Amino acid sequence: MEIASAERSAISHLFEPIAIGGLTLPNRIAMAPMSRYFCPDSLPHQGVADYYSRRARAGVGLIISEATYIDHPSAPSYEGVPNFFGPALDGWKAVLEAVHQAGASMFPQLWHTGSFRNSSMKPVPGVPGFGPSENTNAFTNHPEPTRAMTETDIADVISAYADAAEAAKRIGFDGVEIHGAHGYLIDEFFWSVTNRRTDRYGGDRRGRTRFAVEVISAIRSRVGADFPVSFRYSQWKQQDYKAVLADTPQELAEILQPLADAGVSMFHCSTRRLWEPGFESEGPMTLAGWTKTLTGTPVIAVGGAGLDRPGLKEAKSASLDVVADALDRGDFDILAVGRALIGDPEWVEKLKAGREAEAIGYDRAFLEKLD
Ligand SMILES: Cc1cc2nc3c(=O)[nH]c(=O)nc-3n(C[C@H](O)[C@H](O)[C@H](O)COP(=O)(O)O)c2cc1C
Repeated sequence: MEIASAERSAISHLFEPIAIGGLTLPNRIAMAPMSRYFCPDSLPHQGVADYYSRRARAGVGLIISEATYIDHPSAPSYEGVPNFFGPALDGWKAVLEAVHQAGASMFPQLWHTGSFRNSSMKPVPGVPGFGPSENTNAFTNHPEPTRAMTETDIADVISAYADAAEAAKRIGFDGVEIHGAHGYLIDEFFWSVTNRRTDRYGGDRRGRTRFAVEVISAIRSRVGADFPVSFRYSQWKQQDYKAVLADTPQELAEILQPLADAGVSMFHCSTRRLWEPGFESEGPMTLAGWTKTLTGTPVIAVGGAGLDRPGLKEAKSASLDVVADALDRGDFDILAVGRALIGDPEWVEKLKAGREAEAIGYDRAFLEKLD
């Protein structure tokens, strides 16, 4: 009984406000970025505004949008993903207003899909997938060789990230998140398996981190010092769940420290079960905890909150007590929740009442409808 009430008291910290730079969030629960592929012509619409504002009204403090394409013809792979440039910005402004009215803050997540693209894809057929090296495609099972980015390609893509961040600030978003995880372009630069370059964007961890550092620096120079910039990274790749960027905390520092120095305001540490140890041989501290310790920045943790299994299969709702130790240790500042919020828009209200185990749970059939 006593243990259960200690866990509840740890979880109640999630309902305290938090300040990140000039931004104050009403609580520490974020909606994780989740692609829904419901934007024909890459334009966000009223259904998108309704979907996000429904979660905001039910207590989510920070909405991180589904990944959105930056303005470079090599960025897109999948159809139905919204752009974050051109006419799509009018749609995003309407989404943002609805979310703000419902009481939450919102960041767009900025995305370049790297070697997931091939030259038959829209919107500009003929543009191949971009990657750090020609063979990056081998890891996404595409027969077509990736274009190893030239220095001009790198500069153009960096400036597309900066344009998107500047637009986000101009139309009133509360910050931006850079998608640096899961085996897409930025992560392909980080990973030694996909980055075989011998120039300054390859080689050791510092070299492989340079592309991301330059993306962050370019964004910072456009949005100023105080605008929140979250950087999402992962050890795992969707091509390989067991892949790691860093085997030790020291190796992780070699990647994260330059990113923090370049101006990341907060890291979003993407794991599949956020309560597991970040490094087995180093005790119970989670990857989020290591990220916070090594960088001193606020950290968002994600992975498995409120559900009994990871991944895209069906999952039943589960108690959040499993994250209490990590919360108590101060491993993370914000909890991002993905599938549990697709399944049950009112999940946060149920958590607040101590009834999250009664939430609807997750079923991949939910993905067929934007609800
Ligand atoms: C349908 C779906 C779409 C996703 N799309 C994205 C995405 O666009 N960007 C991203 O960084 N992660 C994406 N993810 C990963 C989630 O943000 C999150 O890290 C993952 O679902 C684990 O959290 P959860 O267990 O709370 O769902 C997606 C996950 C799901 C289930």
